[in-house]
Amino acid sequence: MAMTPVTYGGSQRPPRGDYSVARADYTCDQSWQDYSPQQHDMYARLYARQLALVEGRACDEFLRSLAQLKMHARIPRFEDVSERLRRATRWEIVAVPGLIPEDAFFRLLAHRRFPVTVWLRKPEEFDYIVEPDLFHDLFGHVPLLFNPVFADYMQAYGEGGLKALRYDALELLARLYWYTVEFGLIATPSGLRVYGAGILSSPGELTRALADPEPLRIGFDLRRVLRTEYDIDDFQKAYFVIDSFAQLFEQTAQDFAPIYQELQPLPAVAAGVAQAGDRTFALAG
Ligand code: PHE
Ligand code: FE
Repeated sequence: MAMTPVTYGGSQRPPRGDYSVARADYTCDQSWQDYSPQQHDMYARLYARQLALVEGRACDEFLRSLAQLKMHARIPRFEDVSERLRRATRWEIVAVPGLIPEDAFFRLLAHRRFPVTVWLRKPEEFDYIVEPDLFHDLFGHVPLLFNPVFADYMQAYGEGGLKALRYDALELLARLYWYTVEFGLIATPSGLRVYGAGILSSPGELTRALADPEPLRIGFDLRRVLRTEYDIDDFQKAYFVIDSFAQLFEQTAQDFAPIYQELQPLPAVAAGVAQAGDRTFALAG
C-alpha cells in the first residue's frame, strides 16, 4: 500500500525511508538481517560515544535501564527489546520506515507501542542528523519506557494526541512532547539531570544542556510549555524542568479541552524569552 510520508515539525524536506513496505498502521518489518557489518559498527560507535557522556548527566532511571538493556554491541533485534519491555511495563517497540503521520503515531502510543525508525544515519551524519533515526529512537527513547510512571505518561500522551486532533490543538500539544519527551530536564537531589531523548542521543546538546548558561531552564508549568515555540534545527533556547515523573503525569492528567480554549486565542511565546512568573533553575557550580 502506498503510504503518505510526513514532514517533521512543519519542515518542507521530504522524509527519508521506504514507505512502500509499511502496513496500514505504518509499522513494517525491521529486516534485521539486512543491516550491514558497517551499520552495526557505526551503531556501536554512536552508542559508545553517548555512553561516555550520559554518566552524571542522564537521570538515574535512564542510566539504570540502559545498563540492563545491554544493547551496545550491535543493532538489536526489536523483538528482543520488546520482549523485555512487555515484561517491565507492557510496552513494545515496533518498526516504522521513518516519521509517520501524527494520528498513526498517537494511535501506536495509545496502544503502548513505540515506533522505532528502521534506518540508521549515514557515516557523514555521525555528528548531526536532521530527523530521527534508529539510534535516536532506541538510545534516546527506549530506556525510559521501562519506567512505569513515564510509560503511563507516554500512553496518556498518545490518547491526548488523538483528542488534540479533535480540538485542532496539535500545535499546542506538540510543544508538550518537545519540552518533555524530547528535551526535558529533571531536578534531582544531585542536581539537574536529562531525561529528554533529543538531548540524550545528541553529543552536542547533552554536553550543553546542563552546562551552557545561555538557555533558559524553567520549572515545568503546563500552560507555559503549551505556549512556548521551539526550534527543530538548533540547540534549544529553553528547557523545562520537572520535579519528578509523578509530577509530570499528574499535571498532565487534567482535561486539556478548557486549556486549549483558553490558550488558542493567545499569542505564542518565543523560546528564549523569559516570562514573569517563570521559576528558573541555576546551574550547579
Ligand atoms: N489530559 C490530557 C487531555 O485531557 C491528555 C494528555 C495526557 C496529554 C498526558 C498529554 C500528556 O487532553
Ligand atoms: Fe524522538
